Amino acid sequence: MSKNPVSNSVIRRLPRYYRFLGELEKHGTVRISSRELSEKMGLTASQIRQDFNCFGGFGQQGYGYNVSELRSKIGNILGVNTGNPAILIGAGNLGRAIASHMDFNERGFRLIGIFDSNPNLAGSMIGELAVRNSLELEQFCIENSPVAAVLCIPKESAAEIAVRLESYGIRAFWNFSHYDLRADHSDIIVENVHLGDSLMTLSYGLNSK
Ligand code: NAI
Repeated sequence: MSKNPVSNSVIRRLPRYYRFLGELEKHGTVRISSRELSEKMGLTASQIRQDFNCFGGFGQQGYGYNVSELRSKIGNILGVNTGNPAILIGAGNLGRAIASHMDFNERGFRLIGIFDSNPNLAGSMIGELAVRNSLELEQFCIENSPVAAVLCIPKESAAEIAVRLESYGIRAFWNFSHYDLRADHSDIIVENVHLGDSLMTLSYGLNSK
């Protein structure tokens, strides 16, 4: 793998490559050229070659790429099999949907606990996990060492809970609360997700036509 830091935009394209290659694999495609891949993905072939060159290049001149090998290499770079232990905070509508429908295991994580401050939700099941009272959070983190947290709580609670979780050893936040969390230490990483931003981009697209 390259020793130079890989740009954020390349890293953000990797999950898409991984997903496309998974589809190709499912349909029995064994190999693909960068030109064919570029046509399917709406990128240029040279962009694809440049992206893969950041990791030492995966293809063979004249052969193209072996689909399952390439997918597995990109999967390794993304760490999809690492099973980092994660917890989810806020078992409301969004939290339940994410806990039930997101395939954490296929994406590098293992959901091991769900917490909510509403005591009435404690004990209710989401998939195979019972919602726990937030009062148990610290003890749970001591015993199970989760490294990532999914925040599905209102924005008013986000900053305070993030500080608390950092002190319990959480290093990565997948943040859905409408509060833009910022990584205040270099060892903390944050992904703020706002579905509404994506929707507004769509609105712009419609209105600018
Ligand atoms: P909800 O009200 O159904 O669920 C929120 C849950 O969080 C409740 O069960 C509540 O008891 C719990 N909670 C509140 N403070 C907490 C704390 N400090 N610790 C633990 N649990 C706590 O709300 P819903 O619909 O699930 O949405 C959650 C948040 O996500 C909202 O603030 C909403 O605006 C936001 N949201 C964000 C989206 C995005 O794209 N980022 C999309 C949809 C909603």
